[in-house]
Amino acid sequence: MKKTRIAVFVSGGGTNLQALIDAEKRGEIPSGEIALVLSNSPSAYALERAKTAGIKSAVVSKKELGSQEAFEEKVVEILAEEKIDLIVLAGFMSILTKSFTDRFPERMINIHPSLIPSFCGKGYWGLHVHEAALEKGVKVTGATVHFVNEIPDGGKIIMQKAVDVQEGDTPEILQRRVMEEAEWIILPKATEKVAKEMSEKA
Ligand code: GRF
Repeated sequence: MKKTRIAVFVSGGGTNLQALIDAEKRGEIPSGEIALVLSNSPSAYALERAKTAGIKSAVVSKKELGSQEAFEEKVVEILAEEKIDLIVLAGFMSILTKSFTDRFPERMINIHPSLIPSFCGKGYWGLHVHEAALEKGVKVTGATVHFVNEIPDGGKIIMQKAVDVQEGDTPEILQRRVMEEAEWIILPKATEKVAKEMSEKA
C-alpha cells in the first residue's frame, strides 16, 4: 500500500514535530511518511529538528511575500511539488483562510492543547489556553487532535486525551504536563489513524 505523504507545518520549538519523527522511527506511523516540514518562520527551532532527522524543509514567509493570499499560493505550490497528501499542523501559528482549508477537506489536522470545546478558538493559543483553564478552575484538561476547517479549532474531533490539573500548577507547568501526557502521544496516533484511512482509500 502507498504511504500517505505527510507535511508537518510548524512555527516554533517543534516538540510535537519531534514526537512525530520519533514515532515514525519507532515504526508507529506505518501508513505514512513525513516528507516535508514547512515553517512560516526562518528561525523556528523545528527546522533544526527536521534537518537532524534528514527531512526536507521549506520556509514560506508571509512578510516576504506581502499577503496572506500570496503566502497560501506559495504553500499550495510546494505541497503539490512534494505530492503531499496530508497536512499536520503542529504548533503552526498562522490562521489559514477558507480558500486554503477548502482545498484539503479532512486532509489537514491540528493539535490543540485543551479538551475542545473548552478553551479553544480565537485568542486561545500557547500559554493563554492553560491560563484560562487555571482561571476557570477546571480539574481536568488535555489535548485534542481535530480536522481543520475555516473555523479556528472548529473541525471534527479525531482524538482527545485528558490530563489532571494539580494543586499549585502554573500555566507553564500545566502546559508541559499536557504536552508530555497528551499532545506527544495523541498527535502521532491520530496521524497514523488518518494516514491509514487515506492510504486505504487511495
Ligand atoms: C503546542 O502546545 C500545540 O498544542 C500548540 O502549539 C504548541 C506547539 O509546541 N498548537 P511545539 O512547537 O510542538 O513544541
